Amino acid sequence: MAGIQQQAESWTSEMRAEQSSLKLGAELGPADPTAFTQRRPIPQPVPLDRHGPARIIAMANQKGGVGKTTTTINLGAALAEYGRRVLLVDFDPQGALSVGLGVNPHNLDMSIYNLLMDSECTIDDILIKTDVAGLHLLPANIDLSAAEIQLVNEVAREMALARLLRPIRGEYDFVLIDCQPSLGLLALNALTCAHGVLIPLECEFFSLRGVALLLDTIDKVRERLNFDLELEGILATMYDSRTTHCRQVLQRVVEAFGDKVYQTVITKTVKFPESTVAGTPITSLDPASSGARNYRQLAREVIAGAAERR
Ligand SMILES: Nc1ncnc2c1ncn2[C@@H]1O[C@H](COP(=O)(O)OP(=O)(O)OP(=O)(O)O)[C@@H](O)[C@H]1O
Ligand SMILES: [Mg+2]
Repeated sequence: MAGIQQQAESWTSEMRAEQSSLKLGAELGPADPTAFTQRRPIPQPVPLDRHGPARIIAMANQKGGVGKTTTTINLGAALAEYGRRVLLVDFDPQGALSVGLGVNPHNLDMSIYNLLMDSECTIDDILIKTDVAGLHLLPANIDLSAAEIQLVNEVAREMALARLLRPIRGEYDFVLIDCQPSLGLLALNALTCAHGVLIPLECEFFSLRGVALLLDTIDKVRERLNFDLELEGILATMYDSRTTHCRQVLQRVVEAFGDKVYQTVITKTVKFPESTVAGTPITSLDPASSGARNYRQLAREVIAGAAERR
C-alpha cells in the first residue's frame, strides 16, 4: 500500500505542474465523467420474491466530508426504490445520518448506544421506519462517543456491532453502515461486521492521501478479524465537470484502482446539502435531479455487484 501513497504524492506534483502550465480543459479529455469510468452496461435489478440475507456494506473514509453520509442515505433510498429492504446504521456520534433522514438526535430516548451497551435494549426499541418504504434506520447521537471508550475494556470489543446485526440479517437485503471520519474502534466494529467496504472519494486534490492508510486498515481487519472482508468499490463524489481539476483527479483514481472504481460518478450539486436540511433523500426530494439519477445508477451497480458475489 506504500505504493499507492507514493503514487498519490507523485500525482499531486504532476497535477500541480499541469495546473501551473495552465492546460486547457480540452487537453485533459472530455468533461463527461463516464468517459473515464464506463466499462460495461449495468443491468436492471430483478424484483425479489423473498428478502435476505443482507449484504453488509460499511461506508468508510477517515477523511471528513467526502460523502459517506450522503451516500448512505441516498444509496439506501435508491436501493429501497428497487424493492430492496434496507437497514441504515448510524455509527457516527455526530448523528448526521439520523439528521439527514429527519430525525433529531437530541430527542432520542434510546439510540444505537443503548443497543450496544444495554442488554435489555432490543433493535425494535430503537428502529425507525423512514418515509421511504423499506428503508429503516438505527439512529445515533453523541452518546455513541461514550461507547468507543466503554467498549475498550470489553471482550471481543471489535465484534460488538456484528453481534447486534447478526439476528436481523435475514430480514434485509442490504445493511449500510455510516462510519465516522476516523479509524477508531467504531470504524473497526463496522469493518469487522461488513462484507464489503465502500470508499467515497471526493474528486479533490488531496483525496488520495490517506487512502493508503485506509486500505492498510482493511487488509489488517481482513487478516485478523474478518477474513471475507472485500473492497466493495470506490465511489468518486462531488464531481464538477467544469473544472479540469476534478477530471484530473478522477482520471488518476481510475488509473490507481481500475475496475474497483464504480462507473457511477456522483456530480456536485447544491441539492445534496438542501436535501439534508429537508431531512429527505434526494431521490424523494427531487427524483428527476442528476443527483437522484446518480444514486439510482449506483444502486443498480451495487445490486449487480452483490449478485455476482453470491
Ligand atoms: N455530490 C455532492 N455535491 C455537493 N455537495 C455534497 C455532495 N455530497 C455531499 N455533499 C455535501 O458535502 C457535505 C459533506 O458530505 P457528507 O456529510 O455526506 O460527508 P461525510 O463523509 O459523511 O462527512 P463526515 O466525515 O463529517 O461524516 C455535506 O454538506 C453534504 O451535503
Ligand atoms: Mg458523515
